[in-house]
Amino acid sequence: MSLQITTKLVKESRINSFDFNNIVFGRVFTDHNFICDYSNGEWKNPRIEPFGKISLSPSLSALHYGQSIFEGMKAFKSTEGEVALFRPLENHKRMNHSAKRMCMPQIPEEIFIGGLQKLLELDHNWIPSKKGAALYIRPFMFATDDFLGVKQSDTYTFIIYACPVDSYYSNHLKVKIEEHYTRAAAGGVGAAKCAGNYAASMYPTKLAQEAGYNQVLWTDGIEHKYLEETGTSNVFILCGKKVYTPSLTDTLLAGITRNSVITLLKDQGFEVVEKQISIDELTAWHESGELTEMFVTGTAATITNIELFGLKGKDYKLNMSKELVSLKMKAILNDIRSLNAPDTFNWMLKVPVDSLQEA
Ligand code: COI
Repeated sequence: MSLQITTKLVKESRINSFDFNNIVFGRVFTDHNFICDYSNGEWKNPRIEPFGKISLSPSLSALHYGQSIFEGMKAFKSTEGEVALFRPLENHKRMNHSAKRMCMPQIPEEIFIGGLQKLLELDHNWIPSKKGAALYIRPFMFATDDFLGVKQSDTYTFIIYACPVDSYYSNHLKVKIEEHYTRAAAGGVGAAKCAGNYAASMYPTKLAQEAGYNQVLWTDGIEHKYLEETGTSNVFILCGKKVYTPSLTDTLLAGITRNSVITLLKDQGFEVVEKQISIDELTAWHESGELTEMFVTGTAATITNIELFGLKGKDYKLNMSKELVSLKMKAILNDIRSLNAPDTFNWMLKVPVDSLQEA
């Protein structure tokens, strides 16, 4: 049975006032959003509405007790105007993983993918054609019970909205290895993409930024000895043809770009080692000259190089003058995503849109 989506369209698109040559990440949103409500154990009223403000009760449980999860994903457009989503089933899987951990209902594939497809059908003209740019899509779910007591909510809302984006980071990154604050504890919610994880990162990130860094590189919450991830992305460390990345635990977010880059690196003949990586190992690799490159991966960040890491007030610079492996990986990934290269790994879900000539 196909999903019956009620559709209320904008009177007039805002697209003509959007400057595709000057895209600021996350500021301007497309014309519509997809919304679906959950109550009495079922999802109901899937609908498309003009993007706009939503009205919330002051006692909305998500605002107080934090049952709120989200995904980040991207849609691309080929030079011929074909539209495709990058690995949407992986985002659906991860969203339901987050939902389970946060005691929220599962979202059926029909609603997740059906909502995405309908939104793209209507708003695909907002997908930038510039190389490396994309339509960033934000599916999210939050608890909507109007109740003050602490309990799992009985009602939820799922929304998908989107915005055209270019690079999240405009420069290489300076990261501070965080040895005091903790992002996630074993048995906690570090592997869930929940709002609170980002809230907890704000203060340490502010301190890192005041000290001249862009981001925090988190370490484990027990000994502050092992590398985990940055505030927005997973991390990779290259020692020649050997690439290290922290293995996935319940304190790390299982990045879909991380997984894709591992596949691409292996395909290009690199040996990828997923393991616990200590700060001591990292500094030893730097000292011996084995460390050739570091980069981060994420939906928003795509692949961004690290130019230095800071530890206990000392900066460890990386040599950025050579041909960077990350740039090669980024080019391969971008070609696949913009349908310029064969979809060898079956990552792209093409979305039929009726007006190829408009794109
Ligand atoms: C993403 O990369 O999609 C994220 O959710 C991270 C956020 C910093 C934009």
